[in-house]
Amino acid sequence: MKLIIQSVLVSVLVMVGSVRSHDYGDALTKSILFFEGQRSGKIPSNQRMTWRKDSALKDGIEIGVDLTGGYYDAGDNVKFNFPMSFSITMLAWSVIEFGDSMGSDQQYALDAIRWGTDYLMKATSIPNFIFVQVGEPYNDHNCWERPEDMDTPRTPYAISKEFPGSEVAAEIAAALASSSIVFRHTNYSYSQDLIRRATRVFYFADKYRGFYNDTLHPWVCPFYCDFSGYQDELLWGAAWLYRATLIPDYWNYVVKNAYNLGNYNEFGWDNKNAGINVLVTRLNTSNSDLFIGNANKFACSLLPESPTKAVDYSPGGLMFKDGGSNLQHATSLSFLALVYSRYLEELNNRVVACGGGVMADKHRFRQLAKGQVDYILGSNPLNLSYMVGYSGYFPQRIHHRGSTLPSIDQHPGFIDCNGGKLYANSNNPNANVLTGAVVGGPFMNDTYPDDRVNFRQSEPTTYINAPFVGVLAFFKSHPSC
Ligand SMILES: *[C@@H]1O[C@H](CO)[C@@H](O)[C@H](O)[C@H]1NC(C)=O
Ligand SMILES: *[C@@H]1O[C@H](CO)[C@@H](O)[C@H](O)[C@H]1NC(C)=O
Ligand SMILES: *[C@@H]1O[C@H](CO)[C@@H](O)[C@H](O)[C@H]1NC(C)=O
Ligand SMILES: *[C@@H]1O[C@H](CO)[C@@H](O)[C@H](O)[C@H]1NC(C)=O
Ligand SMILES: *[C@@H]1O[C@H](CO)[C@@H](O)[C@H](O)[C@H]1NC(C)=O
Repeated sequence: MKLIIQSVLVSVLVMVGSVRSHDYGDALTKSILFFEGQRSGKIPSNQRMTWRKDSALKDGIEIGVDLTGGYYDAGDNVKFNFPMSFSITMLAWSVIEFGDSMGSDQQYALDAIRWGTDYLMKATSIPNFIFVQVGEPYNDHNCWERPEDMDTPRTPYAISKEFPGSEVAAEIAAALASSSIVFRHTNYSYSQDLIRRATRVFYFADKYRGFYNDTLHPWVCPFYCDFSGYQDELLWGAAWLYRATLIPDYWNYVVKNAYNLGNYNEFGWDNKNAGINVLVTRLNTSNSDLFIGNANKFACSLLPESPTKAVDYSPGGLMFKDGGSNLQHATSLSFLALVYSRYLEELNNRVVACGGGVMADKHRFRQLAKGQVDYILGSNPLNLSYMVGYSGYFPQRIHHRGSTLPSIDQHPGFIDCNGGKLYANSNNPNANVLTGAVVGGPFMNDTYPDDRVNFRQSEPTTYINAPFVGVLAFFKSHPSC
């Protein structure tokens, strides 16, 4: 009986998967375009998402520091540097691993990275002092305003020697170091600026250790509290600095502190553990056995057939892990699975043994990632694309202030904090298409309410999209794996 049910399930999955073939190149273009919709600051003349305009042009002005630019993290208008810098790191890693497959979109990916790094350079311009957030989250979240109209306080929050924040500082170092690799060939002097700053910021993160929670708790929690501590970011930052500079001290730092490595299964804006191990598979170093062993265990833990499986799958085949915005897991774990598959490939197509007789090769990990991508793009029980603007059928009521409200072009008049709620609470589709945005995603039973209020399902974030950029680039050049 059990066998019969399983074989029916498999044939359903195969059917759904084979019905549609996807235009990964189109999805790639859109996944990068999304970042233009999240831009804060002065919008340049080559902006393609034209319904977005200048916003937050006075960020930092009350303290005499230019903090304009950067990205709004999701559907609100706060600049949270902790998840923002992780998103930049993942965009940079996407270009480093898969940039060759991006074609003409690679330039746009570089622009998206630079929009973030230019801001992170401003946020770290004062030695031993780092701005980690702009905007009061409660005031902001209580309003439904276009970024262009925003009139809530734009308070800057910072860390210092006395009030450290090693997790956010080390993640910024990772973002700057990884981005320096990206710009090495197109802008050597900018690349050098980035690496110099990354070096200084990492030194600060390591020397003045502490959690930004401890002093900034009321403003960073419950939004982007540091749950997993800073050890993972210190190792991650050092690993990226090693990759960018090949200075042995950074690798020695990673090895010496490896005992601090946490759960090898976790990866996201807060927890970098699986990312560290998979990144190490791409470094040519000695003393890497512990990390590579963890990377193997992590890869096996993704497979539904593995006895060590540590993720859940919905009946329709989507990966699930705890925490909101579930599609962040599907995109970031798919990214790591693809990077890991390249490692197996470079070792003459090595096969990894997952226990219980389960063996997996590079094709298995690519097929796994492809299943997630295809689900997100519409090969799922609802036939719904979870990427806005891709295919004709996608979420219409995403939890995103700018997208919900009419654009400045359509409605030049000011819409205040409460004026916007009329739109937020209506059942109408959003006024502007935030092309390329991947939303939080369906429930575990593969249903999706398309409801603005339900932000865990309907809100896009930069850290859902950033790893997806690399994943889509890979499938653009390997459409059938
Ligand atoms: C390189 O970066 C610098 C800023 O450091 C910028 O002024 C310059 O325009 C960039 N050059 C190119 C070719 O993009
Ligand atoms: C940060 O705050 C959250 C929420 O209060 C808490 O769960 C977490 O353990 C704190 N993190 C650290 C590293 O203290
Ligand atoms: C890896 O490092 C070893 C020893 O330093 C060196 O001989 C080898 O060429 C390197 N391989 C690659 C692919 O860089
Ligand atoms: C999804 O598409 C398939 C193939 O076209 C179709 O058989 C199925 O009924 C569709 N499902 C829904 C919920 O529209
Ligand atoms: C699917 O799950 C959601 C969330 O748990 C629930 O609200 C909804 O009723 C479920 N739908 C079906 C068809 O089971």
